[in-house]
Amino acid sequence: MSTNLVIIGAQWGDEGKGKIVDLLTEKAAAVVRFQGGHNAGHTLVINGKKTVLHLIPSGILHEGVVSYIGNGVVLCLRALIKEMQALQAEGVLVSERLRISPACALILPSHIALDQAREAARSEGKIGTTGRGIGPCYEDKVARRGLRLADLHNPDLFRRRITELMAYHNFLLEHYLQAETVAVEPVIEEWLAYAETVLPMIADVSVEIEQHHQAGKHVIFEGAQGAMLDIDHGTYPYVTSSTTSSGGAASGSGVGVHALDYILAITKAYTTRVGSGPFPTEQLNDIGEHLGKVGQEIGASTGRKRRCGWIDLPALRRAHLNSSFDGLCITKLDVLDELETVQVCTHYRLRGELLSIAPLGADDLAACEPVYESVPGWQSNTFGLRNEAELPQKARDYLAALEQWLGLPIVIVSTGPDRQHTIIRKSLLK
Ligand code: GDP
Ligand code: IMO
Ligand code: MG
Repeated sequence: MSTNLVIIGAQWGDEGKGKIVDLLTEKAAAVVRFQGGHNAGHTLVINGKKTVLHLIPSGILHEGVVSYIGNGVVLCLRALIKEMQALQAEGVLVSERLRISPACALILPSHIALDQAREAARSEGKIGTTGRGIGPCYEDKVARRGLRLADLHNPDLFRRRITELMAYHNFLLEHYLQAETVAVEPVIEEWLAYAETVLPMIADVSVEIEQHHQAGKHVIFEGAQGAMLDIDHGTYPYVTSSTTSSGGAASGSGVGVHALDYILAITKAYTTRVGSGPFPTEQLNDIGEHLGKVGQEIGASTGRKRRCGWIDLPALRRAHLNSSFDGLCITKLDVLDELETVQVCTHYRLRGELLSIAPLGADDLAACEPVYESVPGWQSNTFGLRNEAELPQKARDYLAALEQWLGLPIVIVSTGPDRQHTIIRKSLLK
């Protein structure tokens, strides 16, 4: 039976989604990105060789698999072409494997300028965006003044629309943000030149997903960012601008919610966050340093150091509430190998009350005190393990405790960055 499998981050991003999507793509006919843009950085390691993807779905390295960029993605054509060229230089046949929805909203250089100028203008409340124009592009989409990929079909219309939109952006940049404006004509020339490459890749993504389904094939929906960065349900305003919860897979690719068969949530065995915003279990101490060092917690997109802390069950329960997880994949278990004790935040205390689910928004979350339970560390090597039986008993106990606390099965355990460093407990795509 064909399965539409949604794979999303359950935390604040960088959970290891790319690795898991790549691994499971072996059994799939297609992989669909449905939200976000080149703010994402998804790392794949295959036999020691590393590939970082930003916009292109993590199934792209597999021959015979179609990669789709769905309507919910904000698309920077300059970033796309750069990523395509880098992959093509490595022999990956991107233009043969990639299909793009005509409804994708286009990120323009002036969106990027606005994103960066707004961040620079914020004094205390910086979001710490990736500076990729994500927020301003989604704003224009929702305001119904944005451009879509399909607009490139008609160069004259494209020219008129982009001229009008960039005039508005330049007005804001110059008069509101006191920032450099972006010259319009070179952008028009550059973007129209991309048409030749991208227009042949346009496809009706919803129809093609249905065709895979009818043919009995599996389709993977690849989330970017993580549930706690969701525009509505995350730590607003310290969030990204899209629906990172599982519902985004439906709206961002144009299938109905009943078409989503299994929601796989990816979470690290601890927690990281890049950018600003509350992070109750953050460890600004030797533990945080240790996790960052062993886990090599450096942003795949921006090169920023990731903030590190213990696993946060109230945040995961909020994510589960919003996304209806069917199963969990725990990544980076190996990063905890050396620790004598592992802490698990099971609850928060907020103004004297014990909470099992993270409160909505940033302000209440910032006021939460984590309540921890200690679990004995296993202090032995799990790096690269592929068989459940090889896991030390205490590591298995840790996983069993998480399953019990969250009421969810752990179906995959990742023990290293490589595709092979994985313990599959349940096969999701048969
Ligand atoms: P994504 O954005 O969710 O795809 O995750 P990123 O690629 O941004 O960050 C995850 C990082 O952890 C990458 O450098 C991966 O290669 C690495 N990684 C993934 N799974 C594991 C694991 O189980 N153990 C270790 N040590 N590293 C992992
Ligand atoms: P992947 O897909 C981690 C964070 C930024 C910032 C906030 C808003 O690799 O998990 P934006 O540029 O989206 O407006 O920034 O969201 N952020 C991510 N954090 N992983 C990501 O992607 C992220 N994409 C955005 O750091 O805090
Ligand atoms: Mg990432």
